[in-house]
Amino acid sequence: MKINLLFPTPVFETCDDADFCNRKLLQDACLEISRRKEVINRTKNSFHRVNTSHLVSDSLHLNDEFLPLVSFIQKCSKSFLVSLGFPSWTLEITQMWTNVGEKGNFVYPHTHRGEAFMAGVFYVKCDERDGITFHNSQERMPPEVLNTLNYSTFYYDGMEGRLLLFRAETSHSTFPQEGDSRIVISFNLRLKEPV
Ligand SMILES: [Fe+2]
Repeated sequence: MKINLLFPTPVFETCDDADFCNRKLLQDACLEISRRKEVINRTKNSFHRVNTSHLVSDSLHLNDEFLPLVSFIQKCSKSFLVSLGFPSWTLEITQMWTNVGEKGNFVYPHTHRGEAFMAGVFYVKCDERDGITFHNSQERMPPEVLNTLNYSTFYYDGMEGRLLLFRAETSHSTFPQEGDSRIVISFNLRLKEPV
């Protein structure tokens, strides 16, 4: 007999070690956005217990300060797309926003389903205790003994400069923030057919 493992959940991971995206510049830009009136009013949401510019100021990819990051994302997402089996297709960023968290803030498990094919997050500033958890979408009874056949969550530590890309339907969440400051940039990408 044998037990087969079916259906992978791919997550692309890399780090901007050279800091060519300029995290200090991104940090200042994100903090400025987080202080906007529409962003402050936006925070009263049942899924985001964090200051987020999602839906109210989410075209950051069009701002000059974000262009090096946009180029980095375009290069990485294209590489991921080829690995996923779409060598002739392209991706386009449709939304980019920032979450600026304080101690105790968190985000409930959610997906980016809808128009998006791929989603991602870039860590501008964070404590290593403030990472992200990915969830298996299948409802399962918690096992008595955890092993490689039954685990249903995967946790990444917080790491400044880290970029993660994943399919838009991949569920993810954050634990209540431990560190004083956590600034991330999230985004969605749409799949474009070859012409
Ligand atoms: Fe998300």
